[in-house]
Amino acid sequence: MNNKVKPAEGNLGILVVGLGAVTSTFMTGVLMARKGLTKPVGSMVEYDKIRVGKGEDAKYLSYREIAPIAELKDIVFGAWDVYPANAYQSAIYAEVLKEKDIEPVREELEKIVPMKAAFDVNYAKRLNGENIMEGATRWDMVEQLRKDIRDFKAKNNCERIVVAWAASTEIYVPYCKEVHGTLESLEKAMKANDRQHIAPSMCYAYAALCEGAPFVMGAPNTTVDIPAMWELAEKTGMPIAGKDFKTGQTLVKSGFAPIISTRCLGLNGWFSTNILGNRDGLVLDEPDNFRTKEVSKLSTLESILDCDKQPDLYNDYYHKVRINYYPPRNDNKEGWDNIDIFGWMGYPMQIKINFLCRDSILAAPLLLDLCLLSDLVLRAGRSGIQRFLSFYLKSPMYDFTKGEIPVNHLFQQYTMLKNALREMGGYEADEEID
Ligand SMILES: NC(=O)c1ccc[n+]([C@@H]2O[C@H](COP(=O)([O-])OP(=O)(O)OC[C@H]3O[C@@H](n4cnc5c(N)ncnc54)[C@H](O)[C@@H]3O)[C@@H](O)[C@H]2O)c1
Repeated sequence: MNNKVKPAEGNLGILVVGLGAVTSTFMTGVLMARKGLTKPVGSMVEYDKIRVGKGEDAKYLSYREIAPIAELKDIVFGAWDVYPANAYQSAIYAEVLKEKDIEPVREELEKIVPMKAAFDVNYAKRLNGENIMEGATRWDMVEQLRKDIRDFKAKNNCERIVVAWAASTEIYVPYCKEVHGTLESLEKAMKANDRQHIAPSMCYAYAALCEGAPFVMGAPNTTVDIPAMWELAEKTGMPIAGKDFKTGQTLVKSGFAPIISTRCLGLNGWFSTNILGNRDGLVLDEPDNFRTKEVSKLSTLESILDCDKQPDLYNDYYHKVRINYYPPRNDNKEGWDNIDIFGWMGYPMQIKINFLCRDSILAAPLLLDLCLLSDLVLRAGRSGIQRFLSFYLKSPMYDFTKGEIPVNHLFQQYTMLKNALREMGGYEADEEID
């Protein structure tokens, strides 16, 4: 194991923005797993083994055998939310897990009481909770959040903190160069309480990076997708990752689209729709919030089925994504994909995928891995955009000012993940992305 990476000693504080369905499912699962009452299925940190070394030296090791990753027993949880419900109440309300899977850790969950949210109702009109910082300007939010992080760290005797956003999707905030272009202009806008360009999520990210905590964006918000945040991440030496957990339909899409592109089949159209009835679905029922999700979901195919590289095959295909709020299904999303492809001499064919999934059950292990790996990256001294974490994310971050393109192809992303781990473990990265 590489001794250049600092060891994972002491407590790791995981502070999650939003204590809703995903977060309560994640926390309950971790607490149950460390009591030996469940298995952390879906977490690659816990289960995956990858090859290091070549030929006769090849061996397959778990991520923890390759690099020093924090243990579940060392995690301490905290959260912010617009609603005052503690993690136990939130897990019961979400109805993702059965009571028998929550009760054994009830006491620990009840102790996770959300701190007051940095919230602006204009960014999520369907929410009306009262656990919020009253009358706070954007800069007040930053200062209060920084204090929250410091206090939590001291009170819980944490060596390190990771902050992850698993709160509602905010309305779409397009990139504005004058405000989001540099750290100086971002800070100026925060201090001027520019509520149009500064989303509350930016205050969380800014506070986290300033307090020495990596930041993970699990929703499609454009929060850390701006040069100002990259500048701050470099200045503070903090890693950032985003955006939007790649859970159900988009996971299928980024795994299935390579079948079409690898076999040089053509695409006329891809229609994705789903029904979802949890609070996430309620927020996304608002057109301005859905817009943020739509932009994120639409980006998945672009770099896999690339019209510039293969104009005969991928010219002008129709890609549509819908989300429909349908309360009876709660967290149990049902997704349908209709894919119109064409083959030899242009003859059309269709593929239908019907995925009956559980949103938070898919998201929880991603949140765990993203937090554990961000903490590893911090100790390995890597800062800025962590492109290898694209594997977990629908709309991977990339530096558009340098002409980079995002990698959406699931198996190329997996190669990036494996190579980053190999490097952090002191082994050679040995697979090229092509
Ligand atoms: N579950 C999935 O498969 C999946 C996949 C990709 C992305 N996501 C995203 O993850 C996020 C969480 O999903 P969920 O199902 O847990 O939603 P949820 O509605 O159950 O929980 C979100 C919580 O965030 C809180 N919140 C909103 N704004 C806040 C703020 N400014 N500060 C603090 N708290 C705030 C809300 O009060 C709510 O309790 C959503 O943005 C969702 O789009 C989920």
